[in-house]
Amino acid sequence: MRIVLVGPPGAGKGTQAAFLAKNLSIPHISTGDLFRANITSGTDLGKQAKAYMDAGNLVPDEVTIGMAEDRLDQADAAEGFLLDGFPRNEFQARALDAYLTSHGIALDGVLDLEVPEDEVVKRIAGRRICRNNSAHVFHIDYKQPKTEGVCDECGGELYQRVDDTEATVRNRIEVYHRETEPIIDYYKRQDLVVTISALGPVADVTRRAMEALEDRRDEDGEGAA
Ligand code: AP5
Repeated sequence: MRIVLVGPPGAGKGTQAAFLAKNLSIPHISTGDLFRANITSGTDLGKQAKAYMDAGNLVPDEVTIGMAEDRLDQADAAEGFLLDGFPRNEFQARALDAYLTSHGIALDGVLDLEVPEDEVVKRIAGRRICRNNSAHVFHIDYKQPKTEGVCDECGGELYQRVDDTEATVRNRIEVYHRETEPIIDYYKRQDLVVTISALGPVADVTRRAMEALEDRRDEDGEGAA
């Protein structure tokens, strides 16, 4: 399946994407994680992205679209993918459509995670990320590591993201409403959107998401990922 995941910052996109990608045997492609990996390894792309990310603003489209397309070109994405954090505005959505059309493929669905703003703020404020791998995500209340400050998966140090301060989070939410929410209508016009509540235990959200995606797969008459 070829899926786009949308939702406000802290909705649980990364958390859900890890389970969904595994269940559906498709790669989880997070532009946020790709940028953070570039920042950690000190590439030019990482240097270009850092100031925008630290302030909670979108990295310019010309940098982001090229990076996302390079990742989609990799062999593991040939049969399907779960895009998390891309596209993030209508320009990127149109660029993705053009990319897919030129490859003779199309999206199967856009999964929209709905969470009230006060919950989003709580989730982000308590989030802790592994220094070795930003896909290893914990929460000081909701998903505590076995040892405080240490990643259960790889033993890496847990830290708070630079863009998880209150002021930056407020800006990220504003940017989400202004730039990213409109793509939900864009995809509704293509009849691709399924919206689920992302409230409640992580496993319940995953179950809801899987059911919604299975329904889409049935509608498309597709048999496999
Ligand atoms: P990105 O990394 O994509 O950040 P985001 O969209 O703001 O989303 P988050 O990673 O903050 O949250 P999430 O929804 O993944 O939640 P998570 O699963 O961690 O982007 C960062 C920046 O990169 C952007 O601001 C921008 O600068 C740049 N960027 C990226 N893509 C771009 C693009 N396409 N164009 C331009 N710029 C781009 O969960 C949050 C917390 O809640 C965790 O602690 C988790 O444990 C907890 N949690 C999750 N689910 C539950 C639950 N059900 N119950 C309780 N707690 C839960």
